[in-house]
Amino acid sequence: MSFFAYRDGEMHAEGVALSALAAQVGTPFYCYSAGALRAAWHDFADNLDGMNAEVCYAMKANSSLAVIRLFGEMGAGADIVSEGEMRRALAAGIPAKRIVYSGVGKKASELGAALKAGVGQINVESAAELETLNAVAGQLGVKAAITIRVNPDVDAKTHAKITTGRKENKFGIDIDLAREAFALAGRLPHLQVVGVAMHIGSQLTSLDPYRDAIVRVRELIVQLRADGHRIDRFDIGGGLGIVYADETPPSIADFLAVVRRETDGLGCALTFEPGRRLVGEAGVLVSEVILVKPGVSKTFVIVDAAMNDLIRPTLYEAWHEIQPVRQRPGAATFRCDIVGPICESGDFLAQDRDLPPLSAGDLVVVRSAGAYGAVMASSYNSRPLAPEVMVDGTRFAVTRPRPSIEEMLSAERFPPWLEPVKT
Ligand code: LLP
Repeated sequence: MSFFAYRDGEMHAEGVALSALAAQVGTPFYCYSAGALRAAWHDFADNLDGMNAEVCYAMKANSSLAVIRLFGEMGAGADIVSEGEMRRALAAGIPAKRIVYSGVGKKASELGAALKAGVGQINVESAAELETLNAVAGQLGVKAAITIRVNPDVDAKTHAKITTGRKENKFGIDIDLAREAFALAGRLPHLQVVGVAMHIGSQLTSLDPYRDAIVRVRELIVQLRADGHRIDRFDIGGGLGIVYADETPPSIADFLAVVRRETDGLGCALTFEPGRRLVGEAGVLVSEVILVKPGVSKTFVIVDAAMNDLIRPTLYEAWHEIQPVRQRPGAATFRCDIVGPICESGDFLAQDRDLPPLSAGDLVVVRSAGAYGAVMASSYNSRPLAPEVMVDGTRFAVTRPRPSIEEMLSAERFPPWLEPVKT
């Protein structure tokens, strides 16, 4: 079932017309479907039957408090990468014990905050971090429960900027050096090793890299146990892909079947850190056409959403489907680039698309924008962050309003030595 669909020729989010939302909140705006979020959660969680596993939502994909709360209500933990994300997770009611703290460069202050809050697991990625965490835990008089994230050196066959499990990536400890790192962790008195973690990349559309990585980590776990370590948990990370164009990402059932098979008999509790898979297809970005500019070689449709609102197309050459909010059955299409108003040639949402005729004031919807959309937005060109709206059936709520320009300016200060502005 699609939670974003045309009804009476108008694109709806569940029971709400996107044009009605646009009239209320203005454009551009992000819109999330609560039904789609719940369905994605159930698709994952309901397939875990009989597995000793927990799902920690990788909130970097979409850290809207409303979204985290919705998952939290259904029993999710959270995978965080900063103190800010931790504070958000706690503010949204995720119990500290269900928080996993990932990341390649955590500061001592952030580790301290995490230990004070009582987060359940810290995934350590370097020998230096082991030492820092040990020192911080010692100062606080606690023992930190850790996994060590290993880099299994597999090719996730995804975009280079979102591959994380190759030797040349900065993430995790090289699997060949892992035993040394575990030995060091075992000697540090304020650390308690509970397991091993991995995360090999994002937007994976094949299960082979998962299988290869799990097999390698499994061999490591056997060695580590022989070395005398207690390995009770295996954190598999996130990374499952979604549909942007014509991808065929694996089903959750197929993914979990591979995990089940490859971890069978290992006796580890499993942690999953899905991000994009839970939110990506549950969100859209809605924008209004400012003007259409025909050129000699190309026609540009200039819309009021830009690379500051959705950076994925220019950063990763990502393809997002773009559709008119009002359906034009039978209309001839024209080829165009859909671009924003920002002063950069990289400011585009889509290139060389065939769309029905569009003119100023028409609304368009950018699909599969629920993951790494709003969270990666900036206010470049002094453009206010796009608001976020959650729809649930026929009700909706603005979960983050658009800041006014006054609010944006009032966050700044003049240095006292500059001449005051005459008003
Ligand atoms: N766990 C760890 C340790 C991660 O680094 C990530 C994502 C995840 C879980 C969640 O991965 P997911 O299930 O969402 O694929 N901005 C990029 C994606 C960056 C992913 C970073 N790490 C994009 O827009 O494609």
